This record gives sequence, C-alpha cells and structure tokens, in this order.
Amino acid sequence: MARAPRSASPTVKVGHVHDVQELRKARPTNIPDRYVRDMAERPTLASIPTSMNIPVIDMSELKQQSQEELAKLALACEEWGFFQVINHGINTMLLERIQKLSMEFFMLPLEEKEKYPMAPGTIQGYGHAFVFSENQKLDWCNMLALGVEPRFMRDPKLWPTKPAHFIETLDIYSKNIRNLCQNLLRFISKSLGLKPDVFNDMFGAAVQAVRMNYYPPCSRPDLVLGLSPHSDGSALTVLQQDTGSVGLQIFKENTWVPVHPIPNALVINIGDTIEVLTNGKYKSVEHRAVTNKEKDRLSVVTFYAPSYEIELGPLPEFIDKNRPCKYRRYNHGEYSRHYITNKLEGKRSLDFAKIQSNF
Ligand code: OGA
Ligand code: NI
Repeated sequence: MARAPRSASPTVKVGHVHDVQELRKARPTNIPDRYVRDMAERPTLASIPTSMNIPVIDMSELKQQSQEELAKLALACEEWGFFQVINHGINTMLLERIQKLSMEFFMLPLEEKEKYPMAPGTIQGYGHAFVFSENQKLDWCNMLALGVEPRFMRDPKLWPTKPAHFIETLDIYSKNIRNLCQNLLRFISKSLGLKPDVFNDMFGAAVQAVRMNYYPPCSRPDLVLGLSPHSDGSALTVLQQDTGSVGLQIFKENTWVPVHPIPNALVINIGDTIEVLTNGKYKSVEHRAVTNKEKDRLSVVTFYAPSYEIELGPLPEFIDKNRPCKYRRYNHGEYSRHYITNKLEGKRSLDFAKIQSNF
C-alpha cells in the first residue's frame, strides 16, 4: 500500500521517485519518511581506527613485474575486495574533465535532466535505479546511468546532449577505463597464479556501463543513506570520486570503513563475478555511501562485466576437498537481469548463485 509522506515537502518526482536535489533546494526541516532509515541501517558516526585504510596499489610497479606489488594486490583482493590504484596511466585532465562535465549535468534544471528519464524496471537514464515498491526506503542520491559497450547497450536517446562535449568525453573516458580494467584483470589473474588473459578471454565482448551518482548535502546525514548497502554485480568496478568529501564506506570486520579519496587515484573493487570465479577467494565486498551535511559529492562509476552469453561458475583451480564449490554455474545475462530487478540489499544478489549447504 502506498504511504503518503508525512512532511509537507514538495512532491517533485522523477518517475515515481522524488528528486533529492529538488528536495534539498526546498530545505525541508524534516526529512521525508521515505528517506529516513530504520535504526539498524542508520549510519553511525563512530570514529574508525586510522589503521583501517584500504590498500593502495601502484600500477607502475605491477607493470614492472614487481612480485611484491603483485602480492599486495592478492592480499587486497582477498582481505579487502577493494583497493585504490595509483599511477594507472590515465590522463588526470581526462579524469577532471569527466568529473566536471558530470557535475554540470546534475546542475542542469530538472526539466533538462528529465529529457533522459530512467524507465521503471530499467537502469539507464536519469533517476534512481533499484526502486521497486512504495514503502522501500530511498537513497539520498540522483543517478545518471548509461550502457556503454558493446554498442548495442547504448541507448542514444539517453546520452545527454548537454553539457557540450559530454558524449565525446564519456566515450574517450570509457575507452581508457576499459583498457585499465583489462590490464587490472591481467594482474588479478597473475596474482591468482593463472595465465594473464584467462578472464579477458573468458569474458568475450565485455559489458561496460557507467553510472554517475550525485549526492546533495543532507541536513540529517545521520538519518539517511546516499546509497544502500550492496555488492556490485560486475566483475570489476572502477570508481572515481572527488577529493573534497568522503562518502564511500566498505563493510569490514563488522565496521563501516570510509574510503578516503587520494587525488587522481581510482577506487577498484572486486564484483560478484570474480567472487564466483574464484569460489570466494577474492571477495565482492559490501559497500554503501553516506551523505554530508554541508558538502555534496559526485562519483563516476564504471561497471565491467562478462558478455551476457557467457556461462560461468567457480574455476576448478579453486575447488578441492577443503574448499567445496560454493556457487553453481549460471548464465551471466540471467544474473544481470536478476541483479537489476531486485533492490540493493547487502550481499543478497549472490544468493542467486549460492549452493545452499545442507549443514
Ligand atoms: C556504486 C557505488 C558508491 C559511491 O555506484 O555501485 O557503490 O561512493 N557507489 O558512489
Ligand atoms: Ni557499488
């Protein structure tokens, strides 16, 4: 049953979802109910030991065949599922340009952004993905999501013509990030003792999608979440964030650990596909985004995944007497459909592939 929001905030909607930027402009004294999380989900503002910093991997060291760096990478993927990569070789001006153009897009008037509406049940366009019911809590975030590769994924009607140069910049950016993903997958394979191109060869014409997440400031960051806890349905995710504010947190040892931005670094995380392929050795770690009281925040996130026709399951190298097979084989297209038709809920997405143990 539909519940009317209790506060007298304006009902500005994108599809059936409120637009948080418009909501923020109205500066409501009360946060509408649909954004107020249940107690257990509210972000605690507890201090985190500074020793809990996600690993930093130097790509130039990996390229020079440093065994030490490769061992660091293995540890990062096993214990954190997350790392920041420096010296990745992508031009910093390109990173700045995509960040700036994405911000300019979100600053456009609502009518302009609504020319690219995300249809309910899809995840492309402007709006909010993963909303399926009237009583589901909403994230304090606006999104622009676009399929990039292979070409059939592109819906040209949803690629913004404003700001100027957005399309060609995103195109160049995406080529660079694709190249980075393929290189990272080579090093990840090597760190597992596999041939460098096993994943690249297996993935076929890999699917690449991009999502810009814009988190306006929120007067009550203690009550809301910018993005619900989830693991990514990709093989690898590349996240670019501005350095001005902190918002991304990963779940480790029962604590939400913040990811402090390093200028020009990119945040990489292992997605569900690599967790399955390695039978859980490398982890797709749950993460979320929180908001800030004064500062807004923008992230540009690329999801890199196998082609939809690909069948996959744990590789035999990772299964033995002591490590029984944890996931069944499945078709990646089916997995993707499952992922986008369910709300974000921690690591629930992987239940699709989990073999239920009888013990
Ligand atoms: C995502 C994600 C976190 C962020 O888009 O999947 O985890 O900080 N984003 O925007
Ligand atoms: Ni994510």
